Amino acid sequence: MKVQYTLLDSGDMQKLEQFGPFRIVRPCSQALWHPLLPSEEWKKADAHFSRDGGNSWKLNRQLPKEWTAQVQGIHFKIAPTDFGHLGVFPEHSLLWKEMTDLIQAQKTPPNVLNLFAYSGGATLAAAKAGAKVCHLDASKGMVSWARENAQLNQLQGAPIRWIVDDVIKFLKRESRRGVRYDGIILDPPSFGRGAQGEVFKIERDVHEILKLCRDVLSESPLFVFFTTHTPGMTPLVMRYLLTQMMDGKNGKISSGEMIIPAENGCDLPSGSYARWTHG
Ligand SMILES: C[S@@+](CC[C@H](N)C(=O)[O-])C[C@H]1O[C@@H](n2cnc3c(N)ncnc32)[C@H](O)[C@@H]1O
Repeated sequence: MKVQYTLLDSGDMQKLEQFGPFRIVRPCSQALWHPLLPSEEWKKADAHFSRDGGNSWKLNRQLPKEWTAQVQGIHFKIAPTDFGHLGVFPEHSLLWKEMTDLIQAQKTPPNVLNLFAYSGGATLAAAKAGAKVCHLDASKGMVSWARENAQLNQLQGAPIRWIVDDVIKFLKRESRRGVRYDGIILDPPSFGRGAQGEVFKIERDVHEILKLCRDVLSESPLFVFFTTHTPGMTPLVMRYLLTQMMDGKNGKISSGEMIIPAENGCDLPSGSYARWTHG
């Protein structure tokens, strides 16, 4: 039985993905090109998610309520949700790999903060590499899901603090308490809600979040990984924001498109990243 996640093909504003044993078609607005695989391959899909006329799943065969798939060596619980997510954003996995190398090069375990942490991909990659991690998301359900993922990866005993809170409230509290982090990962959505319904809007709140992140960075930080899927947050926009945030700190900045590597060679652009690393 297949266990890996694989992007098989994309095109005509859809993507064809293999989540372990199941093949799924989902909308993909950036895939303006035509698919490379023959239509017979797309017809083998087990389920289609569509946003035409409201969100809906069309099943070609009964799917289990949940199953597991592996991305970059990490096991995830996969479960189709009403809004078309399945519990992992594989475009982040190339950053997990770089973060792993940075963490493993340290003599003592760094303190890492993962904000907007969703199902915990970055949390588990950091913990597996030997970091102490603080995992934060406003959704209680997503934090439980991430904890299940920790179990799937035998990381239930790892030094991970699991926090359900609003990012801004939490960062202000950590700053007052003097808690400091050597690495920060933040993946803000375009729009979100905090644990008490606080409205988050990236255009309005990005400066405050980055300033608060700077406040909780240690004297000699290791990395800041900043990613988004918001249209208009291009790699250069992200780079400028991160450059201003890290003013005065000695490090390197790179930025680019996040991609999902594809089996057919047609890697899929999926959002932007900017990355600051020490030295
Ligand atoms: C796009 S997902 C992040 C994906 C994740 N970083 C990954 O790699 O899998 C956005 C997450 O932000 C959370 N969120 C939205 N607004 C928030 C807020 N104000 N405070 C904390 N978390 C928030 C949501 O619950 C959701 O899990």
